[in-house]
Amino acid sequence: MRRTEKIRSMVRETVLTKNDLIYPIFVDETIEERVEIGSMPGQYRLPLSEVRDEALEVVSLGIPAVILFGIPEHKDEVGSEAYNSEGIIQRAVSEIKDEVGDDLVVITDVCLCEYTSHGHCGVVEDGEILNDPTLELLAKEAVSHAEAGADIVAPSDMMDGRVAKIREALDDAGYKNVAILSYAAKYASSFYGPFRDAAKSAPAFGDRRSYQMDPANANEALREVYLDIQEGADMVMVKPALAYLDIITRVKERFRMPTAAYNVSGEYAMVKAASAMGYVDEKSLVLEILTSIKRAGADMILTYHAKDVASWLERSE
Ligand code: PBG
Repeated sequence: MRRTEKIRSMVRETVLTKNDLIYPIFVDETIEERVEIGSMPGQYRLPLSEVRDEALEVVSLGIPAVILFGIPEHKDEVGSEAYNSEGIIQRAVSEIKDEVGDDLVVITDVCLCEYTSHGHCGVVEDGEILNDPTLELLAKEAVSHAEAGADIVAPSDMMDGRVAKIREALDDAGYKNVAILSYAAKYASSFYGPFRDAAKSAPAFGDRRSYQMDPANANEALREVYLDIQEGADMVMVKPALAYLDIITRVKERFRMPTAAYNVSGEYAMVKAASAMGYVDEKSLVLEILTSIKRAGADMILTYHAKDVASWLERSE
């Protein structure tokens, strides 16, 4: 059955398509022109003035969705720019929606780490990240994104109980059709390094191990996902992807939910570095990686390779 490409394509079990892709975009309030992210060649922080064109490009490539991350001009202890109705993400969402409407699904990352002066994903007191006081702020942030026009909100903070709180707040504010994609099994990973450079969100002290998951745990991932589904998550995410393919498979098999996987910044950076050195062939490596993430059980893949992949798939169709 492997003799010719025609036969191979007849028996192929997993086919990557553009509909599997979600493209991450960084919007930076502090810049006037796009700035390339040093550790993520080919990825940029965009000023607000460029988000409309970026959205049009993504739509023209046939990618169905983007996820937005904001870098605010002002950071403070409680991340107040995260829920400012005139904040960078709120303005970016409304500009994009104004430009492309329902041609592009707009997902927003709901978290405080890009907006807090200490870089943690929650409120801090005496060096401790406080779960419950953080929930109110995340709910306010999610509602402000919905008000701006977000289709899906994606909490990435890993506080307990945030999905229920956000669902309730969205419903109370009249946004019952705004869906929740929860970063349900998010590990305390070294693969986020380049993202933290890009979003200037590295924690100023300590690390995120008191709220993100221990990479050694798999059963705990199932409990985390179970809780988020009970609380009202419409879609669940495993993050990172490549070192956690077993988790993707278990989550998909156990819950049969729409399941996303985040092919994170460090995974992207490794591929880019190795291909720049000529050690690997970028295109075939990326397609193999993303196909394996889909084969593991992911319905959606958040990936910085999305635009490249969409253009490669275009040519091969
Ligand atoms: C915010 C957030 C992070 C990522 C997505 N949302 C960083 C973190 O948890 O430190 C990482 C994405 C990537 O590495 O590509 N909490």
